Amino acid sequence: MLWIRELLALCIAGIVTANPLATQDQRKLDQRALTVYHTENFYNERIAARAQWEKTLKRFHVPITEQVSSDLNTTVNELVFSSIQKAVNGDPSDPHVYWVDTAARTHNWFGLKVKGGRYSYDNPDCIYRVIPISDKYSYRIHGRRYGKGVADVSFSLISNPNSQQTVHALYGKDLHVDNDGFYTITINASDTKSRNHIQSSWQVKQAFIRHNLGDWSSEIPDDLEVEIVDGPGHSKPYTNKEIIASAKKNLGESTFFYGFGALDLKTYSEPLNHPKPPQQSQFLGTLTSQAQSFAPFQLKDNQTLVVTLTKGNASYFVFPIYTEGMITTDPGRRQVSLNNAQSFQNHNGSFTYVISKRDPGIYNWLDTAGRNSGTTMIRWQGLATSGDAAKGIEVYSQVVPFDRLSSVLPNETKKVSSAQRKQLLEERAANYDRIHYQ
Ligand SMILES: *[C@@H]1O[C@H](CO)[C@@H](O)[C@H](O)[C@H]1NC(C)=O
Ligand SMILES: *[C@@H]1O[C@H](CO)[C@@H](O)[C@H](O)[C@H]1NC(C)=O
Ligand SMILES: *[C@@H]1O[C@H](CO)[C@@H](O)[C@H](O)[C@H]1NC(C)=O
Ligand SMILES: *[C@@H]1O[C@H](CO)[C@@H](O)[C@H](O)[C@H]1NC(C)=O
Ligand SMILES: *[C@@H]1O[C@H](CO)[C@@H](O)[C@H](O)[C@H]1NC(C)=O
Ligand SMILES: *[C@@H]1O[C@H](CO)[C@@H](O)[C@H](O)[C@H]1NC(C)=O
Repeated sequence: MLWIRELLALCIAGIVTANPLATQDQRKLDQRALTVYHTENFYNERIAARAQWEKTLKRFHVPITEQVSSDLNTTVNELVFSSIQKAVNGDPSDPHVYWVDTAARTHNWFGLKVKGGRYSYDNPDCIYRVIPISDKYSYRIHGRRYGKGVADVSFSLISNPNSQQTVHALYGKDLHVDNDGFYTITINASDTKSRNHIQSSWQVKQAFIRHNLGDWSSEIPDDLEVEIVDGPGHSKPYTNKEIIASAKKNLGESTFFYGFGALDLKTYSEPLNHPKPPQQSQFLGTLTSQAQSFAPFQLKDNQTLVVTLTKGNASYFVFPIYTEGMITTDPGRRQVSLNNAQSFQNHNGSFTYVISKRDPGIYNWLDTAGRNSGTTMIRWQGLATSGDAAKGIEVYSQVVPFDRLSSVLPNETKKVSSAQRKQLLEERAANYDRIHYQ
């Protein structure tokens, strides 16, 4: 019996916690999104999205192999579900905290078979949550942090859930959390300089909240809840028809912003196999305290891409591998991303990675998940939002034949045996599942 009392004491102390993502709101919104997904096919929008991606890839002479074609189908399917997810939580008079941009897995605590809803460079470290916002209302977000919290947190008010243009934001370093881990954020049209306040405006449609986990074995995203404190009464609840119309609009915009904007203008306009030092940008879905390096890659069977980079002034960085459809492949089961906390560091502070299809037997392997081609978006976060905070971050890359790797890698490179790899992947899977699905 003793252990029950101890467990209770731990629960009260907040050490044993329920998953902050497993909320009633999450279940209701996912259920509604699934209902819509099963009643409407979005046939024309799917064709248009696929055509936009293919057009971009053809323009840059990327062969549409069977693999690329099937990856594009996955992307379109997830884009459809994400567009519905954006629509079901679209009423600023009835706001809920909704976890989106997630990989497909059954959320087993709900018994729902939730679809994958990833789009435009999902980060496997990141828990993305959204709240619909209008400047007619005054909101309070109640947060609760566990331990030291996660590696990087930000609350951005964005003008469009598809382009994700930031209007105002509150960054982790400016967020005031009390000694017990609690905080309250206010969002309204007032331009007061109060602590934890984010000013809304007529352009703002959504709060887009990122919790980036560095150490997957220990970090837990904050609990979040939202309430309206002032404003006109509730609007009429959205009908399924209205949700479908809004999802169609999201799909049309996403097709343009991602298939043309992110894939064409941001990624394929960069040289092949050559990620460059990053740049900070305020447009198209990027976080303003973040610098990014986009690059397409295309490797022969026995080729690898070796990348050495530095952290600069960032507090966190992550290096993920994507398909041409700009989503990760099974991030919980394959090592398709590594962040600074998960990587082996060289003596001089830099980090060296090997991108390849075959396991090179080194710790910092980035798995292409069986593919010869795809894209990357390396990102550095926690940077100052103005000036040239990304200056000084270095990125070097070269294509190296698999059997010449040892002559190129730093002599301190950490190696792993196949048994160690198996264990590392099992740990990754267990941590990923704990964070997301338990
Ligand atoms: C992609 O989807 C289309 C339309 O649903 C289908 O005809 C095609 O066979 C799929 N391709 C692959 C490679 O899965
Ligand atoms: C807007 O937020 C500020 C800062 O927290 C607060 O003082 C003010 O009362 C809020 N306004 C309304 C109408 O709730
Ligand atoms: C790649 O390397 C493996 C093992 O060294 C070899 O069996 C295979 O033929 C090589 N493939 C190509 C395309 O060179
Ligand atoms: C990096 O941070 C250091 C220490 O805060 C500062 O002196 C330096 O100017 C920063 N560099 C850039 C490029 O912002
Ligand atoms: C740091 O170490 C890496 C790996 O050995 C090397 O490629 C890089 O040139 C070094 N950087 C400096 C500034 O010495
Ligand atoms: C590793 O390489 C560095 C320079 O590249 C050299 O100074 C050092 O002695 C080497 N260490 C070993 C153990 O070979």
